[in-house]
Amino acid sequence: GKDGYRHYMEKELHEHPVAIGQTLQRITDPAAKKIALPALPFDAASVPRLTISACGSAFYAGMVGRYWLESLARLPVDIDVASELRYRDLPLADDGVALFISQSGETADTLGVLRRLKEAGQKIVSVLNVEHSTMGRESDLVLGMVAGPEISVASTKAFTAQLSVLAALSIEFARSRGTIDSQREESLTSSLLDLPSRAAEALTRGDAIRDLARIVAEARDVLYLGRGICTPIAHEGALKLKEISYIHAEAYPAGELKHGPISLIDRTVPVVAIAPSGILFDKTASNLQEAKARGARILAFTDSKGAKQLEGIAEHIVVMPDVDPFVIPILYAIPVQMLAYEVALLKGTDVDQPRNLAKSVTVE
Ligand code: M6R
Repeated sequence: GKDGYRHYMEKELHEHPVAIGQTLQRITDPAAKKIALPALPFDAASVPRLTISACGSAFYAGMVGRYWLESLARLPVDIDVASELRYRDLPLADDGVALFISQSGETADTLGVLRRLKEAGQKIVSVLNVEHSTMGRESDLVLGMVAGPEISVASTKAFTAQLSVLAALSIEFARSRGTIDSQREESLTSSLLDLPSRAAEALTRGDAIRDLARIVAEARDVLYLGRGICTPIAHEGALKLKEISYIHAEAYPAGELKHGPISLIDRTVPVVAIAPSGILFDKTASNLQEAKARGARILAFTDSKGAKQLEGIAEHIVVMPDVDPFVIPILYAIPVQMLAYEVALLKGTDVDQPRNLAKSVTVE
């Protein structure tokens, strides 16, 4: 049941800390602060290329995974949504590895790509919540998330659990490829192990998130902006808003604003920024300033340092806990999903069963 929560989505949002914690428990050695994944069915040091495919939220998790694998493990990564990759005539590397991400393990397009790439001789690794699924049976290796059942059509805790597995896999690849030393592995692993507490802290930001929700709920169109590893989180936020509140939302890398979407901006189009402080912060802040100058109301997710710099630009700010930059996408996914939930509450939609959508999309 819903354990006293109003919707499964609300319950499942509150399960982020447990889903992350249980997932990490399976794939880390907390005492040694090391990653402890099952043996990989290939030599991670010599993998020439990784192809990632998934749909919806799982695809955005894959986009985050690409940033980690490229920057930490120096691994060339190709990624595309399954419905596209399925029909792309892509040149594959011999000894290549294909990585699939799916909550259900049954999504038709993802399974279609899996079968095609397996046929083409790629080693198949799947990150799944339902391990005893069709994808599970057809993979060379299943990396399980331990998120527990996810009932709400809008994915929540499965997303952060997917990211937790991808983060661990990236560290594992980096270690095998000699691109990080053991000290760095320990500090990255610690930042992951610290996440359940930080996630619990994020769940306390409801009041601030409701300030944003009241503005978003009045809008017909919303723009979500991020940069770098936060761009996929902007996409996740926009997808979730569309799914459950039926408000049109688009996500853009903040730097693309002036190449088109800025023409949409006026006071009726709120801009939601995923903008933690860090090397890309100043660039995002100046994009937000440009949007504000054209009348946009700016709503931001950032940390205490970023909040100081966005004073005078952002109308409302959700101040997130300070964490290692490595885990930022995992942490920031939580309030972004909460925002969509709060907006859906204000709109009075059928949060757990949004129109036209199914939990598991088993037809092409
Ligand atoms: O079961 P899967 O993870 O393969 O499902 C993929 C997408 O259908 C899914 O993430 C969908 O986008 C969600 N409704 C997002 O909230």
